[in-house]
Amino acid sequence: MASEDAEELTVTSEVHHFSKEEVIEGSAGAVLSRFDFVYPAYMTSCEDSQIMKAVVDADGDLQVTRKNNLHKKEGVVLIEQYLFFSKEREHQSATTLDLVGEQVWRGALFLADFILHHPEIFKNANILELASGVGLTSIVAGMLAKKVVITDVDRGDILSLIDRNAERNKELVKAEILVREIDFYDHATIEENSEALKDVSVIMAADTIYHNQLTDQFFKTILRLMSEPPNKTMYVALEKRFVFTIEDMETVAPCYDYFLDRIDWLRCQNLSTINWVIEEVPINFKQYFMYEKTRHLVMWKIAAELK
Ligand SMILES: C[S@@+](CC[C@H](N)C(=O)[O-])C[C@H]1O[C@@H](n2cnc3c(N)ncnc32)[C@H](O)[C@@H]1O
Repeated sequence: MASEDAEELTVTSEVHHFSKEEVIEGSAGAVLSRFDFVYPAYMTSCEDSQIMKAVVDADGDLQVTRKNNLHKKEGVVLIEQYLFFSKEREHQSATTLDLVGEQVWRGALFLADFILHHPEIFKNANILELASGVGLTSIVAGMLAKKVVITDVDRGDILSLIDRNAERNKELVKAEILVREIDFYDHATIEENSEALKDVSVIMAADTIYHNQLTDQFFKTILRLMSEPPNKTMYVALEKRFVFTIEDMETVAPCYDYFLDRIDWLRCQNLSTINWVIEEVPINFKQYFMYEKTRHLVMWKIAAELK
């Protein structure tokens, strides 16, 4: 999180240095950002029936034509987001930190890269994203998946912002998209969405580890979701945020340390009904989006097999 103001905590993601923005007139501070990416080779191949069209010509012969995106090497995800705090939106939240989801964070692009690199995990899957923010990662997952349930806490403008972003990118997305609230502090929001969640087998979340109390609730939410059939595998992308502290007299990553502590907690939960496989994922996957892929970005896999 790049900038902090002494009087009022404001946070801005580093990602916008790599995207191109244009202000949306009359929108109280929103910008439309372009996130360019390179298509993975398997999406530009002739073998993918998704991008082939078969037609019968006037003579009754079968003609196979290519849809426009065949051989297209580059694509763009268009995202409406709020990069800077706007006075006009003050009424929506007590602090700007509450609205961090209204911009794209580096973890979202890191997780998007992981998705594009692993079609075997995401293709035709029913996916749930927690704390999705503006929805970029889910939109990328929607290029491969059967269904994506995009969720965040219903705060500020976020759920309608996700709706608008899904609509903006509908040419890219082949999956069914559902936009819902899941609040880590209120598990009634899970029950309310039980129909949409009943066949989810892949869960994902990016950049949700920045406040220990929220991390506690995040893990309780994971436990709750993963205790229900079908078996689920989750991918958590995060950035170790280092700070120098006087107490430690060194640079530490306290939120990441707390995350590791909660991982140990999760491994011990519901052992009579769940086999846990929890491990860090190697990050040697290809980069398709433009951002600084620092060595502080990490990915964890949490798999729950119900006994
Ligand atoms: C740093 S942002 C990350 C957003 C997005 N995943 C990304 O990487 O760009 C943290 C996200 O956590 C969400 N969040 C905060 N409190 C939450 C809660 N109680 N329940 C669910 N999500 C919450 C925020 O709305 C925000 O979308």
